[in-house]
Amino acid sequence: MLFEGSNRVSLIKPSSIRRMLELSAGMKDVIHLEQGEPDFTTPTHILESAIEATRKGFTHYTDTNGTLELREAIAEKLEADNGIEVDPQTEVTVTSGSQEAMLIAALGFLNSGDEALILDPYYPACFEDTLLAEAKPVTVQLDEERDYQIHVEALERKITERTKMIWMCNPSNPTGHVFSKQDIEIIAEVARKHNLIVFADEIYEKIVYDGTRHVSIGSLPSMEDRTITLNGFSKAYAMTGWRIGYVAAGEKLSATLRKLHYYAVLCPNGISQKAAVAALVGPQDCVQEMVAEYSRRRKLVLSELGKIRSLFCTVPKGAFYVFPDFSSFEKSDEAFASYLLKEARVVTAPGSGFGKAGEGHLRISYSVSYEQLEDGMRRIRTCLEHVA
Ligand SMILES: Cc1ncc(COP(=O)(O)O)c(C=O)c1O
Repeated sequence: MLFEGSNRVSLIKPSSIRRMLELSAGMKDVIHLEQGEPDFTTPTHILESAIEATRKGFTHYTDTNGTLELREAIAEKLEADNGIEVDPQTEVTVTSGSQEAMLIAALGFLNSGDEALILDPYYPACFEDTLLAEAKPVTVQLDEERDYQIHVEALERKITERTKMIWMCNPSNPTGHVFSKQDIEIIAEVARKHNLIVFADEIYEKIVYDGTRHVSIGSLPSMEDRTITLNGFSKAYAMTGWRIGYVAAGEKLSATLRKLHYYAVLCPNGISQKAAVAALVGPQDCVQEMVAEYSRRRKLVLSELGKIRSLFCTVPKGAFYVFPDFSSFEKSDEAFASYLLKEARVVTAPGSGFGKAGEGHLRISYSVSYEQLEDGMRRIRTCLEHVA
């Protein structure tokens, strides 16, 4: 018997990264530069705290919204690092990875026919989750050659009476761009003026370079009741497999998120919550050490890309991605990613999977070892020498 998926599911498309993984499955001697997955093992003191919690029998359901211990640690972190004041009792919700938070935000606030603005290039989940909510994703394309600057007019032009929300990711996946305070202020101003919710994905906040300062939109005046700040542990603490993240939002927004969160997950993983507490209250040198290594790798990738003629690439100030424009070699990023896989045995993420503004680009992740990165970049360069 054949069972069709719901109409809702037919609206969304599979991730382009998954497609590349499928294409490369079974191939030998392949370098993977497509995934946003830190190669580091979770720092030891975090592992130890989880092992200890397991031994002590911390194996039961926890509070639906996360243990108060973790919510308090998150609230302290948000105040200290981000200038965001939240009540851990009512305004912090611990989620099963940050990805859950995006879905519950879309389903929680978007009605069928509503519109959500998305800064393009974007992290695909916000686009697909908007569709799942049967709402309309409205992209605002950012101009790479103008360093992805935000312009009031560009946002205003896309606003209608159905616009309800703005999705932003800062630092950006896929570009690695970090929005300036001025850009953040523009988004906040538009959100206040048109009474919009801002969903701010700040999962790469700790991974910034060259003394770049990350500004949280939730810390700006009159933004506390309209901002949903998303963060998590996957990237900064190399904890992708623990599936733990959180959202901070005003009490009313949080109450809606929590209603959905309960039916989606019941509660987040208990052991992971203990590990997350250790991550937040423990020493932070592990984060600095990982960022220093990402910085070294970023230098390598940029230097290798700089050797390729007719290639344009902005210098990213955050995350662990570069997003070069390869369109002078081949207009179709999908075809180009397949070509690199076949000829160079390197897997990259086609840029069009991150929006129209990503067409002709490839996302290269430098969250793999220095050696793999060296090999991967050398292969790409050698391959392109034959094309040029
Ligand atoms: C921008 C962004 N947001 C959210 C997520 C989801 O992270 P997690 O669910 O592992 O916390 C990712 C993962 O790649 C991401 O890149």
